[in-house]
Amino acid sequence: MSKVTQRSITYVNNTTKPSITSKELDLDTCYGPNDIVIKIHAAALNPVDGLTHAFCGKWTGGSGLKTYGRDFAGTIIRRGANVNEKWAIDAKVNGQFKHMWGEAGTFTNYFICNPDSVRSINIMSKVPKALTEKYNEFVVSAAWPLVYGTAWSTLFLKNQKWTPESKILVIGASTSVGNAIVQIAKNHLKIGTVVGICNSRAIEHNKAVGYDYLIPYNDPKVSTVEGVQNLVKNELQGDKFDLIFDSVGNSEFFPVMDTVLKSRCSNSQYITIVGDAVMDFTDNSIWGHMTFKPVLRKYNPLRKFNYDLTILENMYEFMDLGARMIEDGTYVPEIDSVFKFADFDQAKEKLDSHKARGKIVLDMQDEW
Ligand SMILES: NC(=O)c1ccc[n+]([C@@H]2O[C@H](COP(=O)([O-])OP(=O)(O)OC[C@H]3O[C@@H](n4cnc5c(N)ncnc54)[C@H](OP(=O)(O)O)[C@@H]3O)[C@@H](O)[C@H]2O)c1
Repeated sequence: MSKVTQRSITYVNNTTKPSITSKELDLDTCYGPNDIVIKIHAAALNPVDGLTHAFCGKWTGGSGLKTYGRDFAGTIIRRGANVNEKWAIDAKVNGQFKHMWGEAGTFTNYFICNPDSVRSINIMSKVPKALTEKYNEFVVSAAWPLVYGTAWSTLFLKNQKWTPESKILVIGASTSVGNAIVQIAKNHLKIGTVVGICNSRAIEHNKAVGYDYLIPYNDPKVSTVEGVQNLVKNELQGDKFDLIFDSVGNSEFFPVMDTVLKSRCSNSQYITIVGDAVMDFTDNSIWGHMTFKPVLRKYNPLRKFNYDLTILENMYEFMDLGARMIEDGTYVPEIDSVFKFADFDQAKEKLDSHKARGKIVLDMQDEW
């Protein structure tokens, strides 16, 4: 059967809500010679989709439908004549598809793409039994590419030399990206000290993931900054951090950076993936998210510390290491919940709450 109905989560611009739309697809003619067609089994939510939606104004985005979704896992069901034989029919693949305002996105039952352009795509790793007892292998495989890739980029693309003496502070220890950072840092790079900041209720859980020390951001007696300063002075015996990584949107350390981060000339880094403030994912306006401060802070020639706002690029390298770490059990992606495709609104509501612990994944099995 080659005629199917493609169902996708789409929007037109920031005045329209995301909703399920359908169109007829002929599976034998819908792809080009360099493309593959993937039957999507699972796709994970990421806040960035809400942001690109918010940025899509009436006049800037055009009138076409734009599809949500980046992380995906599925099976190849068609391949073009020029496609590398690695991407064979029935191969199980996962990855992350970076895009902005395009008709293609991964919240769809049939995803058509050129694997050479996507780049962050791989044959799915074997998922350890301990994980598949709870979730199917596609749900696990869709849960990690974007957050793992962001963590990988933070640790590998700044020419930092990692040793057992290195020290990292993660602002947002419970975020999915923080969860990937600590596992890569401890289990792969063998970094000596990784400190996290999280809710006091999440401390025990995060300790089990691998953090050496955890500081609550909701201690009524000690501020977060004081908590970190005390830790540097006492437990770390005055040794400061090589990397401070922010996945929340924090600006509290800027005035006292020299008390917690090593000197700029040692190639220490302050890296944020959010900016200076916690994002309101429900704010569907461009201006609600606009700030030029991170850009000024990054390029200021008189800056007192190295600062960067990292955005994940399309790369194969992290997919390869991530697959190996999944397979040998050194990276276990955290999954908060799994929703049916039809329940996307509830899944998004959970994501927007900033209360998910781990990835929220859409299970697409009902959609074919
Ligand atoms: N630049 C990029 O390429 C890129 C890539 C991926 C993600 N991002 C951005 O990174 C952010 C995190 O994404 P994610 O998917 O990893 O997050 P997430 O899993 O949705 O993060 C939710 C967690 O944030 C924690 N949290 C909330 N408020 C906090 C605070 N004030 N201090 C410390 N932790 C707090 C909560 O843990 P507790 O229980 O500890 O409160 C919650 O479990 C998002 O804003 C996303 O847009 C950027």
